[in-house]
Amino acid sequence: MQITSVGHAGFHIRTAAGTILCDPWVNPAYFGSWFPFPDNTQLDWDELGNSDFLYVSHLHRDHFDAKLLTEKINKDTTVLLPDYPVPDLKRELEALGFHKFFETEDSVKHTVTGPGGDLEIMIIALRAPADGPIGDSGIVVSDGETVCFNMNDARPVDMDVLHDAFGHVDIHLLQYSGAIWYPAVYDIPARTKANFGKQKRQRGMDRARAYIEQVGATWVVPSAGPPVFLDDELRYLNDDRGEEGNIFPDQITFLDQMEIHGNAGGLLMIPGSVAELRGKELSSITHPVVPDSIYGDKAAYIQDMAERMAPVLAAEKASWATGDEPLLPQLKELFEPIMAQSDLICDGIGYPVGLVMGEETVVLDFPARTVRPVVEGEGKYRYGFRIDPQLVRTVLRDDEPDWVNTIFLSTRFTTWRVGGYNEFLYTFFKCLTDERIAYADGWFNEAHDDSASTELEGWEVQRRCPHLKADLSKFGVVEGNTLTCNLHGWQWDLESGRCKTSKGHELRSRKL
Ligand code: FES
Repeated sequence: MQITSVGHAGFHIRTAAGTILCDPWVNPAYFGSWFPFPDNTQLDWDELGNSDFLYVSHLHRDHFDAKLLTEKINKDTTVLLPDYPVPDLKRELEALGFHKFFETEDSVKHTVTGPGGDLEIMIIALRAPADGPIGDSGIVVSDGETVCFNMNDARPVDMDVLHDAFGHVDIHLLQYSGAIWYPAVYDIPARTKANFGKQKRQRGMDRARAYIEQVGATWVVPSAGPPVFLDDELRYLNDDRGEEGNIFPDQITFLDQMEIHGNAGGLLMIPGSVAELRGKELSSITHPVVPDSIYGDKAAYIQDMAERMAPVLAAEKASWATGDEPLLPQLKELFEPIMAQSDLICDGIGYPVGLVMGEETVVLDFPARTVRPVVEGEGKYRYGFRIDPQLVRTVLRDDEPDWVNTIFLSTRFTTWRVGGYNEFLYTFFKCLTDERIAYADGWFNEAHDDSASTELEGWEVQRRCPHLKADLSKFGVVEGNTLTCNLHGWQWDLESGRCKTSKGHELRSRKL
């Protein structure tokens, strides 16, 4: 098996049976905030676009690059499709002209036939509202000799299914770095922000190491991030000044962490790097340039890239919507019907949320299920966002069903909150269609199984995390009376079972 990095979460997998192109991304995403790092524009995208199979793990813009898919990828390729209950990914691909789909079943091994023979594949589809835009996935590929697990940024909860179907995994490709706006955009003192960032940075890498341990692959490729931020106003987000509170550590940092913890199987791959494997045996790995020319002076590399990409960024900004009409009527028309269909989510949010867009403030009054102007003397909201009205006008113009996949991941906003993270709120913002909100509301409504228990440091706790059902015997860490689930870093007070991170989500726990 030959694996070529095509940048970020993108890989090209060549086998005797055929080739698979995974998550190709080259054009800036999220309002021009994210670019692939290192630069991958120099790759031969015409050649890559002629692969036998295409796998797009999910709809996040750094995995689903509509421009690249339109311009460079052969529409007759067979798309290996994850099993998502809301079929938006298939619809979006169809709208771009793709017409051959191999529809997989979640966590089931399938045989697909390429021009040179058969391949075994399995797509693990995560379907919780918190997974990507209602769905994220990882793919396993076996050519009968080598098993590759491309987990990208998915967070599977059960690894047994992987080993049961494929046995030993030879190479594991996974995310280890941040891909979120927290804590950068929060109105909190700089020192607090740096502390939160430091914890987040370490937790992301710890989670990746927990996965690496569970998968037990011979080789590991840190991938799927971090992106690079080239806009002057966002350059502070890059990890090029040695700040401990930066949540975007790069591949070199993570490979060091692996070494420190006794795992020497880490491989650095940059766009154009090629790894040749036969089972566990890595026969060669080659790079298109000396990696030190990128990581040796990363700030200079980023500066250089920013100068090259300046026209691309300027064109992106020129495409944003302008106008001066009030936003309230449009937001009312969009949000109120969604609120009316999502009692559980609106009650879960539980308070009015302020949207400050330049001179105009609009209140999303979730308890009342209305969108309204500010009421005099109302004071500050428990949760609020300050967003450039241009961005809001653009998502409204483009009928975007998901503000997480557009505005929030852009980090071009600021926010404040009193109290914990509110998962229901971000779920609401990513479900702005009838179909999505119905699915998400139903998902929260389902009774989650908490019947099994596990023992951790003298506590009996429910085995499955109340957040997204991670196995707490593997992801749970107890310190004093606090349980942390390392999958997403949520915390519980073991004495009371109260979730310290978000509303609801109570844990069953008992001192032994
Ligand atoms: S599954 Fe998300 S914190 Fe446990």
